[in-house]
Amino acid sequence: MCGIVGIAGTRDVAPVLMEALRRLEYRGYDSAGIATLVDGVIERRRASGKLNKLDVVLKQTPLAGHTGIGHTRWATHGTPTEANAHPHSTARVAIVHNGIIENFRELKAELVAKGHSFESQTDSEVAAHLVSQYLDDGLAPGEAAKTAVARLTGAYSIAMIFKGHEGLLVGARKGSPLALGFGETESYLGSDAFALAPFTNRVAYLEEGDVAVIQGIDVAIFDAAGRPANREIKITTASAAIVEKAGHSHFMAKEIHEQPVVIGHTLAHYLDPAGPSVRRLGVGLRPALASATRLTISACGTAYYAGMVGKYWFEKLARLAVEIDVASELRYRDPVYPEHGAALFITQSGETADTLAALRDAKAQGQTTIAIVNVPESSIAREADINLPTYAGPEIGVASTKAFTCQLAALASFAIAAGVARGHLTAEDEKSLCASLLETPRHIAELLKQEAQIKAVAEKVAKARDVLYLGRGPSYPLALEGALKLKEISYIHAEGYAAGEMKHGPIALIEEDVPIIVIAPHDQYFEKTISNMQEVMARGGKVLLISDAKGVHMAGKTWASITVPTTNAFITPLLYAVPVQLLAYFAALARGTDVDQPRNLAKSVTVE
Ligand code: G6P
Repeated sequence: MCGIVGIAGTRDVAPVLMEALRRLEYRGYDSAGIATLVDGVIERRRASGKLNKLDVVLKQTPLAGHTGIGHTRWATHGTPTEANAHPHSTARVAIVHNGIIENFRELKAELVAKGHSFESQTDSEVAAHLVSQYLDDGLAPGEAAKTAVARLTGAYSIAMIFKGHEGLLVGARKGSPLALGFGETESYLGSDAFALAPFTNRVAYLEEGDVAVIQGIDVAIFDAAGRPANREIKITTASAAIVEKAGHSHFMAKEIHEQPVVIGHTLAHYLDPAGPSVRRLGVGLRPALASATRLTISACGTAYYAGMVGKYWFEKLARLAVEIDVASELRYRDPVYPEHGAALFITQSGETADTLAALRDAKAQGQTTIAIVNVPESSIAREADINLPTYAGPEIGVASTKAFTCQLAALASFAIAAGVARGHLTAEDEKSLCASLLETPRHIAELLKQEAQIKAVAEKVAKARDVLYLGRGPSYPLALEGALKLKEISYIHAEGYAAGEMKHGPIALIEEDVPIIVIAPHDQYFEKTISNMQEVMARGGKVLLISDAKGVHMAGKTWASITVPTTNAFITPLLYAVPVQLLAYFAALARGTDVDQPRNLAKSVTVE
């Protein structure tokens, strides 16, 4: 989703802004632009499409200037045209914005009445004109910015530069993240520390309602009430190295292949191989779990499906009542939170707007908030009471893969610990479950060797217009995840269903050219799922069965099958995620889609 960068610099900043924007590309965007002060005057270059188009524009008409802002835009209001691309500007101020200004219509009407004319269909342009109006009214830039942002409702992070004010950069944050970078001779603003990593590792995060007024290396921060505020400067761990594809054609392929290693890193954090046992959870988590009356789980997208798998684990292993909902519903549902409840939020980016809002609501309602987060310095990692990190490393492909399996690894460790803390698992149970979990990297490495066979099957699936995924128990969320992965990157219409629900509707869709992907390890649900599979086959449906050797053997002849290593049923969700990811990846490849940056999708969804 939109990426922001700003530099109060001491050199020509256009190339530096472009470098930072490249590091924000992974968030997903459809147009881009930069603005600098050239001899005190605001100049802009913008282009629809990817950054290489902006690069061409900059080569044709280079941009000098030591003070500048840059933006990658993920369209919300108005199509991804050059006119709608940021920065938006008047003669006096240029702004870049991430978020949605909800009261832009009222503000626009007010400004039009005062003689302002607008060039774009965006909500963001109103912020430029509002600041400009306050400058016209005689306010100094910092005051004009503070007065303007105080009138904006919705979510935003904004960076601004001002005509005639070399070295002046103003940043504001409410709802969407904004980091402040401190260099030796320059200062920076950025959507995340990753964007700023090549320039500085000294970073502070603006808090809700903060406005930062930066003049060269002098930085003044004001809180929501306009009072001077101090924000702790942290040494960020974000790496300055550009994340490479390491010989793979796509980040997604690289990230799928990294899974044995990064799951290993995540498990190494939580498990003690000597036990094996769960060694480490967040401080205070075990007592909170022992007495919790209920666990509420919430997340978005793939992270939500990880949470659904977690629900099966918490119920079975810890006899802990779980309520789960997508964050965009939970935050508006007026949920009834129990006394002494705990609420778990799962997120790769740690910035997803709905998940963050749901966490804040749960906290306000007295829940102990726990977050499973991949980005350690993100808003959710900072705001949760207890932080359970995953160690997937930077995930660049928009479709989440390694973050998902690392979330499962953390959830599985957490569920075992909950089972022990609540007296439902013995030390022997803990030992055997942890031992199985520690085996997952090895099994996944084994599974990845079947890539060529999975590719061949995926090429058959790629010809379909519609695909159904079925699963039971913890394989049901995997069916949902499989369908999500396929539709996200190959644009094939896909639905995931609980196998038992098939007779209640989707069975009507079964035709010869609709592949049905059945996820059915040989576990306690197997016989039931296979009966559902037979019902599909009896109606001419062609089944791709994903199971272990015993399951494939017992199921008999199917259209296609993928054989997953035989393991303890507990860890099957981690293993079965891999063929599901590879099927989507190779189907997308066969259809020639943009695997890493699929159309319309964003990696970090910072608007609701
Ligand atoms: C976007 C991404 C998904 C991700 C979801 C939640 O939709 O494209 O891959 O699962 O956001 O993101 P989070 O960062 O909270 O896990």
